Amino acid sequence: MSNQSIEVRKLTPSVGAEIFGVDLGGELGNREVEEIRSAFLENQVIFFRDQKMSTERFKAFGRHFGKLYIHPEPRFPVPGHPELLGIKADETSKSVAGEVWHSDVSCDPEPPLGSILHIHEIPANGGGDTVFASMYHAYDALSESMKKFLAGLTAVHEGDRVYKARRPENQKSGKTYLKAEHPVVRTHPETGRKALFVNRYFTSHIVQLKADESAGLLDVLYRHLESPIFQCRFKWQVNSVAFWDNRSLQHYAVWDYFPHRRLGHRLTICGDKPFYRD
Ligand SMILES: [Fe+2]
Repeated sequence: MSNQSIEVRKLTPSVGAEIFGVDLGGELGNREVEEIRSAFLENQVIFFRDQKMSTERFKAFGRHFGKLYIHPEPRFPVPGHPELLGIKADETSKSVAGEVWHSDVSCDPEPPLGSILHIHEIPANGGGDTVFASMYHAYDALSESMKKFLAGLTAVHEGDRVYKARRPENQKSGKTYLKAEHPVVRTHPETGRKALFVNRYFTSHIVQLKADESAGLLDVLYRHLESPIFQCRFKWQVNSVAFWDNRSLQHYAVWDYFPHRRLGHRLTICGDKPFYRD
């Protein structure tokens, strides 16, 4: 990596890397952006430490990778910044977002490419890690027979499974939420690799199967893809940043620090319609 302007240190052989030698609070050159993009595609999630940056610089960093996505159901909106999602847990929290394995907003017909999280405050006694699981590796580890079986299947992802319960008024309003049908295995539009694309949060059922078959197969796939062998775990510090690929990863927010406080801002980058190509 000596000819690079950034330094990339892998967290595990298969998923996650820490990036050193870059200040996201300053202007980034084309070379730095391309090196970051390439580390992101290779490692699926990249981490940065000690990044002090304004809201405007944070958004400018996100725009290097695509159009900024406006989240359909922000739990904590950030006034004046619709592209930002507030991340907040404290002594009043009854739950936190992301405490189930998921890919962000997979109920959107065009789910986000990725998300970037900047943490401003960490829990006093530690905790609050995020765990990431590679859906490339989970797919690759399946038997050839299972890969063939999954190739033609699609699944429905429903926003109301997650967002309806978020606020009491949502349950009574008759409001409709995003819903989409996606291939169970998606081909990554940039790397061409295949990834499992069903998750416990949003996926309701596999379209081509009977209800019992669908529930049974999803259970098998979830237990498989949640194995620690596909994972890396990130311990946050103040001003850490994570940028993850929503197309090839799932993640899980560990809420082990109640009643302590954890605060941050998330940006989400627009993506495209998932497809399967052999
Ligand atoms: Fe998430």
